[in-house]
Amino acid sequence: MQITITRPDDWHLHLRDGAALAAVLPHSARQFARAIVMPNLRPPVTTVAAAGKYRERILAALPAGLNFEPLMTLYLTDNSPADEILRAAGSDFVKAVKLYPAGATTNSNAGVTDLAKCDAALGEMEKLGLPLLVHGEVADPAIDLFDRENVFIDTVMQPLLARHPALRVVFEHITTKDAAAFVAAAGANVAATITAHHLLYNRNALFVGGLRPHYYCLPVLKREVHRQALIAAATSASGKFFLGTDSAPHARGGKEAACACAGCYTAFAALELYAEAFAAAGALDRFEAFASFNGADFYGLPRNAGTLTLERRSWTMPDELAYADGDRLVPLRAGEAMQWKLIG
Ligand code: DOR
Ligand code: ZN
Repeated sequence: MQITITRPDDWHLHLRDGAALAAVLPHSARQFARAIVMPNLRPPVTTVAAAGKYRERILAALPAGLNFEPLMTLYLTDNSPADEILRAAGSDFVKAVKLYPAGATTNSNAGVTDLAKCDAALGEMEKLGLPLLVHGEVADPAIDLFDRENVFIDTVMQPLLARHPALRVVFEHITTKDAAAFVAAAGANVAATITAHHLLYNRNALFVGGLRPHYYCLPVLKREVHRQALIAAATSASGKFFLGTDSAPHARGGKEAACACAGCYTAFAALELYAEAFAAAGALDRFEAFASFNGADFYGLPRNAGTLTLERRSWTMPDELAYADGDRLVPLRAGEAMQWKLIG
């Protein structure tokens, strides 16, 4: 069995920089025509000038013969000036601004401590239609890790949209039935990305026979009832839900550690993982809209030309991949069976 779809895009991707960028970029470029590139580098990408340089480094690292368009984002801070938003909206390569609540995840130290401090920037984004991409978790250590998305909806997302009702918002990598319901009920200016790992796994995956760091990401995997709700959202007729892998490479040593880094590396076979989730739900007919149409439509960008084809065929995910400086990168599903293969 085969499925052919319009060439898809990845609306949430971590490409890193330098040698790591060179190692992972070909994987995404083989699968996706475009990607929204996260700005959580060290130091974070906070200006249009820095985003422009990062974009050039990405294009320089792209192997000959691969077509891939990086869509850049700015990292919102307490001090992001409204001017920078104006410059971003006027550029042809910055497509969104990312909100990391300070302390919520990898390289979020420079993130926002209080959204009230960003009101000028947010007002400008609302006026200009530049989307805010939201890591939707509170960082408060007193809040149970598994409740941080829910608490974020009540204490941050709803007040934000009350203050800026026309702000275009992408609730990134949603993980709960509550987030899916919130997005479905919100206005057309609110959408969400869903990762392959949150469609395929619930939190049990973290603990199968021992502690499994390669299944650890933020927001963390949730209960099965939430996974089911994400499947329902992704396979629904709604155009509000679209593909965003949140593929986040970390060297093997950073993952297999006493304090393991958050992030699942899925870019190597992202479409194959998503296809498995859609096939299991009996919803392959909805895959193209999720992977190739809804995101482009939300961002107001043209849908891609060309197609790619996946075939139902079993193969084994490599145990590890080459990464920066002799390090190795362990992909999600390493050494395990896959059901779909990208064939062209
Ligand atoms: O698991 C994650 N990894 N979640 C994030 O929000 C950041 C990402 C990363 O950059 O490694
Ligand atoms: Zn991310």
